[in-house]
Amino acid sequence: MDISRRKKDHVDLTVAGLAGYRKSSGLESVELLHNALPEVNLNEISLEATLLGRAFSYPLLISSMTGGYDRASEYNAVLASFCEDNNLPMGVGSQRAMLEQPALVDSFSIVRKHAPTAFIAGNIGGAQLIGGLSRNQVDILTRSIGADAIIVHLNPLQELLQPEGDVNFRGVLEGIASLAAMSDVPVIVKETGAGISAAVAGRLLDAGVSVIDVAGAGGTSWGRVESLRTETESVFDEWGIPTVDCLLQMRSLRSRSFGLIASGGIRSGLDIVKSCALGADFSASAQPVMKALAENGRDGLERLLARWQADSRIALCLIGCTSFGEAGIRHIRRTTDTI
Ligand SMILES: Cc1cc2nc3c(=O)[nH]c(=O)nc-3n(C[C@H](O)[C@H](O)[C@H](O)COP(=O)(O)O)c2cc1C
Repeated sequence: MDISRRKKDHVDLTVAGLAGYRKSSGLESVELLHNALPEVNLNEISLEATLLGRAFSYPLLISSMTGGYDRASEYNAVLASFCEDNNLPMGVGSQRAMLEQPALVDSFSIVRKHAPTAFIAGNIGGAQLIGGLSRNQVDILTRSIGADAIIVHLNPLQELLQPEGDVNFRGVLEGIASLAAMSDVPVIVKETGAGISAAVAGRLLDAGVSVIDVAGAGGTSWGRVESLRTETESVFDEWGIPTVDCLLQMRSLRSRSFGLIASGGIRSGLDIVKSCALGADFSASAQPVMKALAENGRDGLERLLARWQADSRIALCLIGCTSFGEAGIRHIRRTTDTI
């Protein structure tokens, strides 16, 4: 099956809400500590947050999703202008298709046309980095979209379950190190829903990676996506480290300097406050954004953002904070895991 068809299947299955984990990201079990005396004025709360030295209006990265098939250009154009107007960062979907079929470049480069100043990150799979990309390939990835960062996605689970997937993962870390050394823009590494452990994050930081996006379990399940696509039963639908687990593990690395993004099952403005209290600098979301876009276009995106921002503001007020930066582990009342 070609890449364009596969990307379209991914959007259709996730938008239909069929591809979620049954297990939770863990965020439902995290409670913020209610403050009956917040001494905060709701109207003075700032929702701003910083990633890679840049200030954004809200700690929400529109996760890498689409590109490389017919409707992708349309979706990317709307997502891009939404990010431009709201000062949010955006990741494009995997640019592998574009490297393989140069005719598809337009479905990605359209992003920069609609978002001349927004923070846009490129995207490539770890498996594509085995053996190292050439300087020319790195230039194509970044220049086609005027990238501010390159996101490398790690998805061994999905690759192993796809009939046409990669099965060799030897050399991915070396490929990431070579990309980080060659690239003029910072490298972010993410999973796609199965999570990144502290041990893996430590090796990525040693390789020169600037930001880790945990993309843990509890949101979109790529195990489930693949069993639906191939209509086979799989024992791997629930495989992965829940997002909260990943965030708690990352606490052991906090003496090192890196950006930490919480994603995988971020489904509300409250989840974003919880994630920041658990140590994340930023959050990212994919499925709810794609669903809002596919069902209600730009309006749907604006409504989702307004609701999430309003809920984040209320949650920050109720824990007595005037910004995300003030939220910390002391604002957590309880989780199922030990903090
Ligand atoms: C339709 C769709 C397409 C995706 N395509 C990509 C991709 O090309 N590259 C990538 O790094 N992640 C991709 N992802 C994974 C997301 O970026 C994200 O890590 C994952 O879905 C978990 O977030 P969620 O629970 O908010 O959906 C895709 C997700 C969706 C829903």
